[in-house]
Amino acid sequence: MELVPLGPGFGVEVKGVSMLDVASDAEAYKAVRAAFETHSLLVFRDQLIADDIQVAYSRAFGPLELTKVASLGANSFYSRLTNIGENGEIVPPDHRQVLVAQANALWHTDSSFKKTPALASVLTARVLPGADGDTEFTSTRLAWDRLPANLQGRLKDAVATHSYANSRDQIHPDLANAEERKALPPVRWRLNWRNPTNDRRALYVASHAYAIDGMDDRDARQLLAQLLDEATRREFVYVHKWRQGDAVMWDNRAMLHRGRPWDYTRERSMIRTTISATDADGLNEVKPPVLH
Ligand code: OGA
Ligand code: MN
Repeated sequence: MELVPLGPGFGVEVKGVSMLDVASDAEAYKAVRAAFETHSLLVFRDQLIADDIQVAYSRAFGPLELTKVASLGANSFYSRLTNIGENGEIVPPDHRQVLVAQANALWHTDSSFKKTPALASVLTARVLPGADGDTEFTSTRLAWDRLPANLQGRLKDAVATHSYANSRDQIHPDLANAEERKALPPVRWRLNWRNPTNDRRALYVASHAYAIDGMDDRDARQLLAQLLDEATRREFVYVHKWRQGDAVMWDNRAMLHRGRPWDYTRERSMIRTTISATDADGLNEVKPPVLH
């Protein structure tokens, strides 16, 4: 296995080991898992892209998440991100599926709004629009390291509230529907997530986060916006330009990502699988203390 550095201080292209190798060979899995813990973002090029290979690869890392209600692929292991509608047509630019893409264009980490947040996501390109539609990544581990010590101290045990509706409301008031609002009530997580394998902390923020325990709501929103802005400064971002055959995996504990816009009259179709966090991934620590 060879690891080729990609981003500013994070991310590698994995060469010499395929997704299929990881799915079928414990040694290959071990090596790739170690690279994941260290580098947070893995890019595989020229892969055989197929649903069952993607699931077999993802499953090696932990339990798979089921896609939430009202999403394409709901209740399956697959999350379909596409501007192709039910009848195979390109949907109009005001269609819910395009609004979903626009919500994905806000800096976020996947599933921080769920009762069990995500360890990792695996995204594969199925149909690319020919130009644009890049995906951008930044390391919240490095963002945490850049924070002044006094702010790290303040945020070490701080707890933020995340909700699905909070990010969708920034795009359109009806984008999160009644079913989603009901199924996905707000959840609370510590503002940093310690990786138990290497002790590195990462800032845990997202477009889904909006309140901080014990802080005035306006001050909290302002602080969260500042933390996001600082984490995602241009020089700290890796831009992934998709090619056919690409699979990208990221650590949702230590990365923010966003999809970039494209010409929505052209097809862009991607499939994501998502691995749930477990206690071995530090889930027990990101949970806030129980209040008595
Ligand atoms: C995702 C996501 C962005 C993109 O799959 O979780 O945010 O560029 N994707 O498709
Ligand atoms: Mn996402």
